[in-house]
Amino acid sequence: MAEHQVIEHDVIVIGAGGAGLRAAVEAAAQGVSVGLICKSLLGKAHTVMAEGGVAAALGNVDERDNWKVHFADTMRGGQYLNNWRMAELHAQESPARVRELEGWGALMDRTPDGKILQRNFGGHAYPRLAHVGDRTGLEMIRTLQDHGIHQGLDVHMEVTVTRLLMEGGRCVGAFAYDREKGRFRVFKAKAVVIATGGIGRAFLVTSNSWEYTGDGHALAYEAGAELVDMEFVQFHPTGMVWPPSVRGILVTEGVRGEGGILKNSEGKRFMFDDIPPLYVDQTADTPEEGWRYVMGDREARRPPELLTRDHVARKIVKEVKEGRGSPHGGVYLDIAWIKEHIKDSEAHIKKKLPSMYHQFKELAGIDITKEPMEVGPTTHYAMGGIRVDGDTQMSTTVPGLFAAGECAGGLHGANRLGGNSLSDLLVFGKRAGEHAAKFAQSNGAVSLRDEAVAAAEADALAPLGRDPGGDVGPFRLQYELQVIMQDKAGIAREGEGLAEAHAEVLKLKARAAAMGSSGNREFNPGWHTTLDLPNLVTVSEAVVMAAQARKESRGAHSRLDYLTKDPAWATFNHVIKKGGDGSMEIRREDIPPMRQELKDIITEEQG
Ligand code: FUM
Repeated sequence: MAEHQVIEHDVIVIGAGGAGLRAAVEAAAQGVSVGLICKSLLGKAHTVMAEGGVAAALGNVDERDNWKVHFADTMRGGQYLNNWRMAELHAQESPARVRELEGWGALMDRTPDGKILQRNFGGHAYPRLAHVGDRTGLEMIRTLQDHGIHQGLDVHMEVTVTRLLMEGGRCVGAFAYDREKGRFRVFKAKAVVIATGGIGRAFLVTSNSWEYTGDGHALAYEAGAELVDMEFVQFHPTGMVWPPSVRGILVTEGVRGEGGILKNSEGKRFMFDDIPPLYVDQTADTPEEGWRYVMGDREARRPPELLTRDHVARKIVKEVKEGRGSPHGGVYLDIAWIKEHIKDSEAHIKKKLPSMYHQFKELAGIDITKEPMEVGPTTHYAMGGIRVDGDTQMSTTVPGLFAAGECAGGLHGANRLGGNSLSDLLVFGKRAGEHAAKFAQSNGAVSLRDEAVAAAEADALAPLGRDPGGDVGPFRLQYELQVIMQDKAGIAREGEGLAEAHAEVLKLKARAAAMGSSGNREFNPGWHTTLDLPNLVTVSEAVVMAAQARKESRGAHSRLDYLTKDPAWATFNHVIKKGGDGSMEIRREDIPPMRQELKDIITEEQG
């Protein structure tokens, strides 16, 4: 065996974004020793790309808001495929988690009377997003990081996990390498929490940075965990489209929450076309007059730009496809127009959207207080993830393995509402940390088998002994995968394209397994990419397979060959698991019947 360092903790947390940090903080608070592993530097996480706010029914801006409305909104947004128990816990516990974060030092924007300010976001019935300008995720990470460090977390930065270590069916640790020197580390633990975020790097245009290669999804899958709802990938309606070097970078929904409107090249506010009938007064003369946002017996006027993300993204694609897009293949997002209504609009925009102001000024030379932005959809979030028990966050099939945040599936169903990711990671990060600590306390020490470690080492070293592939090296292979996924498993899918994507991903799987890397173990991004590639291929295969199986359009999954939503498909989730012969298997799993009082809430809130 090569030389490796063995590190022992009661609980290890893989991934140090908001979910990982919150899990680590909670586990430490339970009195166990915690190791926190980050692929990148501490604090660099996709959590910061949830800019516009954290959803919690505090009722500070509209006192009619409460957890029941939040629950009903989340279920409707997820088109009723959600794990309803998770949706219930999430809606009930988010307010306490946000207040707790404030107690730990997060500085939220305030209402004139000093309460936490909340803004509108897509699919939420009331202003619900507590925020810090457009830097909410960043403030949350800063707060959790400070809090965690003071709790004595042991942080392992720039360390990538390549395999979960198993003993008698239980997860007992992880094998990893440090990115700087390529030295191996073996983490021994009584419980393991995965909080590695999403899969955005499987697509060409994405708001995700280089770390998001589906590692946690793939590690868990290889260890025997189930994945759920993998067909549902969220394309955020507004990413930057120009210049090419910044394509995909997020433009927060907070812009629309603050009054930003979407227009096509003809200057038309196209979101008024094709509003789902539920939201329109059919007796009105024009779409503008007929627009209303109906929530049961309540009615609130809100811009149609704040319909759910799946709908807005599809509308943008339609405008572009039909020739009414902007010069660089997007549409226009205009916040400058609020000058018609707000006195010092320039200062107002800079105060509410400081990051967006700087982002466009510095990266695109656009002053958003005066000019519209060019925007288009960007791959943002995976609704699908590791299948967990809703209360404890433990994998449904692997004892000792927990998951939280984006890499865990269930809460969001077919489509996530903006802001529900930050509340998700607080609520379920806490639960995962708490239950992982309890599991560690009640399940004794573990032993690691030398053979398991030796096999993990051999696999990690293998690419360095293989042909680096000349021009078609690991980076090129990743690019090829991204093109396939973007073109054939993106916003608009159809059977033929998905079948082609499936065949191509399987070919790429074989090529990725044979891919080599030049150089040695030190400072070698080529080698790192060969180790990431199998994860990207696994999550891509899962997305494509589930998308092929779902022969309807629902939420973020849109099939051109099955344009409508089919009620018969609302009763089950797709569950994916590694089969005995090593191939990927998919099955339908019925959604357990919802408790009557929750059904009543949905009926009551949504009429
Ligand atoms: O648009 C945004 O600020 C993103 C929020 C989210 O994904 O929850």
